[in-house]
Amino acid sequence: MDQEQNLDELLSCRLEFGRKAVEPCTIVIFGASGDLTARKLIPAFYHLYREKQLPAPFRILGFARREKTEDAWRQELRAALEQFSRTKPIEDAVWTEFAANVSYCQGDIAGPTAYKKLANQLASLPHEKLRRNLLFYLATSPSQFSQVVEQLHHTGLLHKGEAGDSEQRIIVEKPFGHDLRTARKLNTELTRYAHEKQIFRIDHYLGKETVQNILMFRFSNSIFEQLWNRQSVDHVQITVSEKLGVGTRGGYYEEVGALRDMVQNHLLQVLALVAMEPPVTLEAESIRDEKVKLLKSIRLMEPGQVDANVVRGQYTAGEIDGQPRPAYRHEPKVKPDSTVETYVAMRSLIDNWRWSNIPFYLRTGKGLPQSASEVRVQFRNTPHVLFAAQCGPRLDANAITLRLQPNEGISLRFNGKVPGTSMEIRPVRMHFSYDSEFGAYTPEAYERLLLEAITGDATLFIRRDEVETAWRIVDPVREAWEGRSLNAKEFYPAGTWGPVAADELLAQRGHAWRNPQPIT
Ligand code: BG6
Repeated sequence: MDQEQNLDELLSCRLEFGRKAVEPCTIVIFGASGDLTARKLIPAFYHLYREKQLPAPFRILGFARREKTEDAWRQELRAALEQFSRTKPIEDAVWTEFAANVSYCQGDIAGPTAYKKLANQLASLPHEKLRRNLLFYLATSPSQFSQVVEQLHHTGLLHKGEAGDSEQRIIVEKPFGHDLRTARKLNTELTRYAHEKQIFRIDHYLGKETVQNILMFRFSNSIFEQLWNRQSVDHVQITVSEKLGVGTRGGYYEEVGALRDMVQNHLLQVLALVAMEPPVTLEAESIRDEKVKLLKSIRLMEPGQVDANVVRGQYTAGEIDGQPRPAYRHEPKVKPDSTVETYVAMRSLIDNWRWSNIPFYLRTGKGLPQSASEVRVQFRNTPHVLFAAQCGPRLDANAITLRLQPNEGISLRFNGKVPGTSMEIRPVRMHFSYDSEFGAYTPEAYERLLLEAITGDATLFIRRDEVETAWRIVDPVREAWEGRSLNAKEFYPAGTWGPVAADELLAQRGHAWRNPQPIT
């Protein structure tokens, strides 16, 4: 290790601020036979256990309708872990120890009987904290959230702490509501039985290392923050692209579409972190206050303004990586004349001092040529003299790209002289890569989120006013599209970067999409 690296290690600063200790607890998963439990939750708990992050003791109790023995459930989970674990092979000894803390409760989520059974099961646990310190994970269909919470309350398993000081907490999966009206209704129903501080609304993007790093990048460095405003920035592009189509999730997707599935939550969350003002402290409420303030300053669209600012698209048959892909309308459980969008591009304006009149372009889509998420901050051009006078548009403006996934990292793009006797300029890049700096350790977002919920830290979860504000932004768009058939310009072949109208959206202001660099 050289001297400078040594210093880097010495300067590494662990933030213990406000961090609470993990206490023995029981996690009850509703919807235990579902996809989320198998794909995300159990692999996350297994890794937390392996890394000795879970409290001792702990229990995981799966609650679902299907009749099965505890052993059968554990075997199912083990098989799923083999498939979805981020580390392989599964360590047998670790799994056996972990699985001894996992049990199953069969019952009908709708009726009181099953909750009594659950209460008895919890009452038989050997430690006071395991019986009372309860984390209820609602991985069910959203239509069941309210009734589960109501039943838990009636069975005496969920106590509402008037100042949020209850030992029970609820984790709620997205989608949280279908629009502002239903989100408000759900919030009212949940807060009847639980204090807002007991409710942890998940957006798994907030658990990603690179998304958390946005705050550190912005507020622990002085050189970038000075440029982070309308004086230096020309516009910002946020791209979350996916190669996959909807696959087996056609039924779900028909209900939500890309606007509700991705923009209302993941993209607006990333936007809030990129554009918000510095919080007063690192406490959950300070950070969430700033995010809400930012979301509230996004200009709301009147129905008549939607077409000028938002583009929707739906993929038709195409090819990705040399493989043929069916049209969205031919995917299982999708209506043959569906108008559901699989792509959205949107221009958002933020009416505040820092960002006035700077476009933030958001886009997301399925069936695109690459799976990549990134934020590109595009800086202003140099004045039209010297090199710019000679090169014109070929002198590219500077950009910082926060690469969220994959190839996690940050790049700064600027111009440099091509070595040689001629005077030639071209863009060059300085690149920080997580893998080369820290090795390939990338914990799953769910590991971080589950641990935070166990400790009761709400920083990475969405507050009530945050979710409602996000719906207020997307609702007018959804309303404008409702019942309207798609026109020819709104289709794009799978394997292309979306409908041409999305290019036109940027061209109106002299901008162009910069597609994520392919993985090399
Ligand atoms: C989920 C959406 O919330 O996020 C999916 O429901 C989407 O449709 C997924 O594929 C993307 O997450 P990630 O972590 O793979 O970028």
